[in-house]
Amino acid sequence: MKYKCCDHILGSIDLSFSGFKYCNEVWEGPEYILYTDENAFEKNEQRRLEIIEKMKNGYIPEHCKLCPMLEEKDWKEFDGKIHKITVFNWKHCNAACFYCSVHSDFYDGVKKSDDYDSFPIVQKLVEQGRLTKDSFIAFMGGEPTMLEEFPQILQLLLEHGCRLEVLTNGIKYEQLIGKMLKEENNNTICISLDCGSKELYKRIKRVDKFDDVVSTIEKYVQVAQDKANRVKIKYIIFPNVNDNKKEIDAFFEVCKKMGVKTVARAVNHEESKIKTTKNQVIESSVIKAYKYFENQAIKLGFELQPEPWADAIIENKVYNCRKISLITRLKSEMHFLFGNKKN
Ligand SMILES: C[S@@+](CC[C@H](N)C(=O)[O-])C[C@H]1O[C@@H](n2cnc3c(N)ncnc32)[C@H](O)[C@@H]1O
Ligand code: SF4
Repeated sequence: MKYKCCDHILGSIDLSFSGFKYCNEVWEGPEYILYTDENAFEKNEQRRLEIIEKMKNGYIPEHCKLCPMLEEKDWKEFDGKIHKITVFNWKHCNAACFYCSVHSDFYDGVKKSDDYDSFPIVQKLVEQGRLTKDSFIAFMGGEPTMLEEFPQILQLLLEHGCRLEVLTNGIKYEQLIGKMLKEENNNTICISLDCGSKELYKRIKRVDKFDDVVSTIEKYVQVAQDKANRVKIKYIIFPNVNDNKKEIDAFFEVCKKMGVKTVARAVNHEESKIKTTKNQVIESSVIKAYKYFENQAIKLGFELQPEPWADAIIENKVYNCRKISLITRLKSEMHFLFGNKKN
């Protein structure tokens, strides 16, 4: 049937620290059904069925209106299959990035989630046949390698043959991730390095672990061998931090040394995913750096991972973000060209 809907509503689940919802593209909606509610997981599934019926009749939830995922097309009838799970039901992390969108709790060790265990939920979905080999499961967090139950869930999903992605800070090497990278179904990891120097890393991540991350990335690249393009290294561009040529050049230099094949760039999504309609200034130095990163990646022969949200922000599709004075713009452009790496 032809109507406006999206892949999330038709089969995606968020296992978050707050509870459950069917989409995390736009953070302001839908609301989480709290994991402390009775039958919270089932309630979320019931809500999915109701929203699909409403959307067939032309209803668009307010928070979906500007989402790049919303699409009018001939959607297949929902068959109960879950094609995407985003697992992030813990907040502890062994880094403390200044930009962390989940406002993680710093904890330098492995421990269980403070909230609920997601293993039985994933296991049940597997047993019910709701997950297939085409299902995509992304681990976020908090830091996955610091979650005690992470290897157990990963092992289960590896055996089931789902496609997996782990977003990790790369401070700790995890053997099972190495194994995961070698499987046939294009499993991937993404590590946000965000810079090319030890000093700036410490400022951004607020832990002195640049060398550990470099060593982890090298190990993953080595283990993955011919599948090394599955190890993606990301650079999130922040104004007055790393939005300058020198740091981007240093980043590519390190990536080359580590044998990295795939890179990604992003911009701060903290604000934009919460308020899709808000006016927000994106510094022109960030826009320039974004373009420069792309050009350098292509020039140096890296594979560039697409980032639809970052593109939408940069292309001014998500909200109006160009209302800045000429003088601010000029300062910003000067910063991009001549900005100090360390600031
Ligand atoms: C919250 S992190 C958790 C996983 C893991 N600890 C990590 O850092 O990769 C999930 C993803 O969101 C990204 N992220 C966090 N805060 C962000 C922000 N303000 N803007 C853009 N991306 C952000 C991280 O780089 C990571 O790729
Ligand atoms: S490594 Fe990930 S979870 Fe940890 S503070 Fe940074 S973005 Fe947040």
